[in-house]
Amino acid sequence: MLTQRMPETLSIVGAGRVGRALGRRLHELGWRVGAVTTRSITTARAAVRAIGAGHPADRLTRRVLASEVVLIATPDRAIGDVAANLADFGGHEWRGKVVLHTSGALDSSVLAPLASVGAATGSIHPMQTFGSQGPPELAGRVFGIDGSPAALKVARKMSRQMGGVAVRLSGTNKAAYHAAGSFACSHVLTLMEAATRLLMAQGFTRRQAVRALLPLTRQTLDNFERIGPRAAWTGPMTRGDFSTLQRHSDALADFPREYLDAYKALSRLTAVVLSGNSSAALQKLDRIFGPRQQGRKK
Ligand SMILES: NC(=O)c1ccc[n+]([C@@H]2O[C@H](COP(=O)([O-])OP(=O)(O)OC[C@H]3O[C@@H](n4cnc5c(N)ncnc54)[C@H](OP(=O)(O)O)[C@@H]3O)[C@@H](O)[C@H]2O)c1
Repeated sequence: MLTQRMPETLSIVGAGRVGRALGRRLHELGWRVGAVTTRSITTARAAVRAIGAGHPADRLTRRVLASEVVLIATPDRAIGDVAANLADFGGHEWRGKVVLHTSGALDSSVLAPLASVGAATGSIHPMQTFGSQGPPELAGRVFGIDGSPAALKVARKMSRQMGGVAVRLSGTNKAAYHAAGSFACSHVLTLMEAATRLLMAQGFTRRQAVRALLPLTRQTLDNFERIGPRAAWTGPMTRGDFSTLQRHSDALADFPREYLDAYKALSRLTAVVLSGNSSAALQKLDRIFGPRQQGRKK
């Protein structure tokens, strides 16, 4: 059987944290990098330096069409316009090319203008946080992918080459996939900072607070991985000690109201995802916190 040659030329539109990190890694892995487009020539040049290859551009040009694969790593709000612009000037020259974006919340349908002129469209979203501290580890990370068969093939190849694991997103609501990442990443950070501030209000220095809390979190995450969520679950609710929850709730009333709101919401979520009898636990929580607001329910 003949093996179909996979494209290995890449243009990048939007080269900030994600575009630079993926571009650099793919370049190291042998991909030839063509146009690297951002909104200013200064950032485009900086991106080319960070990637180690490419031609800087401060606007979309036909040079993008010289690559077999285009990676769009602009902020989510710009992806639709970029796709429409690319489709306008490339027209049917897009036939046979692959365009992937890196958004976690948007699926490949945002690239519809390019699909309509013949490009294979998809998305490749690394479940990883890209901050300002330089490119993070990609090996071992999950890449959520969606799109047409040809786009999925390229997304799988990229993920595999970077040492990651591609998972095809089959749900109908990709934003829910992305919300999972928010729970596990930025919301964990929010909770750590809120817990730190609570301890500081009790006289801890920041350093002491972090020292007190981090081992607790690390141990809990380690237990979650090793023995699973139910066995890792500790705290007053596991003991049916709802009077302690009442005391927590009373104490949190002295802090900005978001602390208590979050505590109530998280306790209810705990009842739903960890308790063996969630409706009984929710009823007890309602007695302490008052009735829930009606939400949308599937
Ligand atoms: N950061 C994360 O942890 C993370 C993780 C996974 C996925 N993602 C996704 O990856 C994408 C990029 O995120 P990011 O964090 O890398 O963003 P970022 O650091 O803000 O970089 C965005 C890049 O897009 C460029 N840009 C903005 N509008 C553009 C336009 N209309 N045309 C061309 N280039 C444009 C910017 O150029 P200038 O520098 O010239 O403004 C910049 O180079 C988003 O879809 C995001 O949801 C992010």
